Amino acid sequence: MDKLHILIMAAGKGTRMKSSLPKVLHKVNGKPVLEYVLDAAAGLSPDIITVVVGHEAEDVRETFTGYGAEKGVKIEFVIQEEQRGTGDAVSCAAEKYKKRKGYLLILSGDTPLITTELLQTFSSRHMVLGSDLSVLTMELDNPGGYGRVVKDNDNNILKIVEHRDSSDEELLIREVNAGVYLADIDKIFERLGSLGIENTQGEYYLTDLIDIFRNDGLKASAFSWYDPIDLLGINTRAELAVADKILCIKKIEQLMDDGVTIYDPDNTYIESSVEIGQDTIIYPGVVIRGDSRIGRNCVINHFCCLTDVTIADGTIIDSFTQMEETEIGSDCRIGPFSRLRPGNKIGNSAKVGNFVEMKKTSLGNGSKASHLTYLGDSEIGEKVNVGAGTITCNYDGWAKHKTVIGDGAFIGSNTEIVAPVEIGKGAVTGAGTTVVDDIPEDALAVSRTQQKNILGWAAKKRKKMEDKLKKK
Ligand code: UD1
Ligand code: CA
Repeated sequence: MDKLHILIMAAGKGTRMKSSLPKVLHKVNGKPVLEYVLDAAAGLSPDIITVVVGHEAEDVRETFTGYGAEKGVKIEFVIQEEQRGTGDAVSCAAEKYKKRKGYLLILSGDTPLITTELLQTFSSRHMVLGSDLSVLTMELDNPGGYGRVVKDNDNNILKIVEHRDSSDEELLIREVNAGVYLADIDKIFERLGSLGIENTQGEYYLTDLIDIFRNDGLKASAFSWYDPIDLLGINTRAELAVADKILCIKKIEQLMDDGVTIYDPDNTYIESSVEIGQDTIIYPGVVIRGDSRIGRNCVINHFCCLTDVTIADGTIIDSFTQMEETEIGSDCRIGPFSRLRPGNKIGNSAKVGNFVEMKKTSLGNGSKASHLTYLGDSEIGEKVNVGAGTITCNYDGWAKHKTVIGDGAFIGSNTEIVAPVEIGKGAVTGAGTTVVDDIPEDALAVSRTQQKNILGWAAKKRKKMEDKLKKK
């Protein structure tokens, strides 16, 4: 096959999304819609991928500049200033394609379920049929807003009419245009100038090329793809939700095939970038997003939300834990109700319990912070016990300060640690202590006032109050 180039039309406003974000930047299962189309296109190893951008062009360009560089994929952007239709979108790339030879595969940027395999089948079909222009189609029970494929009695494609321009009879046609086209570069660009705007939208329709090709004695063919879901176009938030669900279920099925237990796929949300090891168990209501890597034999209990986390083998995360950009060692126990904000590194066999919040903190092997604690900007050694109610006072209103706690230290309940401060190895703080100065190794720090017992005080007080009540 001659050189293959791919053009993706992604300049449309996506009016029906009712959004300030361009349609192709909306995310499905964690990635922008357009990225899926780019991935499918890149799988064909094209010479170059041209993306036509228009509405909020800068945002789209910024998001995808450098896309695929590591895979050797070349990508370029073309601006369509005014959205005057799909035919006009392709015309905007005319200058770029003046000297290029080969085939041009044209895709829409809003079909995130499209696959490389589908595009490969479509391209081979084009070659086998010796077609000059191929159009990908699908059969729908409810053809809705798609362009209708009009054919003659011998099943040859005659034209595509948009639903708005269709006669009552044409509206009944169930075969519709999926928005994927393939033809020789020269043959396309030579004819784009002949497109008119005689339609209800007053736009240049790329689909009118079919008629133009046929009038020039060239062969146009329609190839019907068996599974319309692969070609679902995102035009509304409802369609966005459908695509998101399909991609999520695909991911969950793949994980189950790889040996992960997921009890309730319908009520579990896992993004495509996530990796999970064998024999890990995921309970209902769990959300795992971003670049998360979870090891083997872990348990993620109900309603945990994990984003960009790394969790080693055998760790249990209990219910209602929220965690981002955090690394956790093996055989730990985290939660329930733990909140791990970005930047934590937790060692092996450590414990973080209920209502413990951590940020930019390292907790060494075998250390525990079991209840009601805030640990921020801290470096905590191994086998440290952090008592209930401990607070690192890391912020003084202007800047954040660091707390260092050495191996084997014992932090008594309700200790306040006013940073910057360093607590030596094996040191102990008495319950209720406010630590403002460094504590040497193996020392005890107590900062509360001496306890005084006043004998009989409570009994006297009780009697006085009871006598008062009797008089009333
Ligand atoms: C288009 C087809 C229709 C087909 C459907 C499949 C035409 C005239 N109609 O209709 O037959 O059934 O796709 O999904 O082609 N775009 C631009 N610039 C523009 C207009 C659109 O880049 O000026 C891009 C959009 O960003 C989108 C794609 O082209 O990615 C399709 O545009 P859209 O407005 O969604 O076309 P449909 O009305 O769905
Ligand atoms: Ca569309």
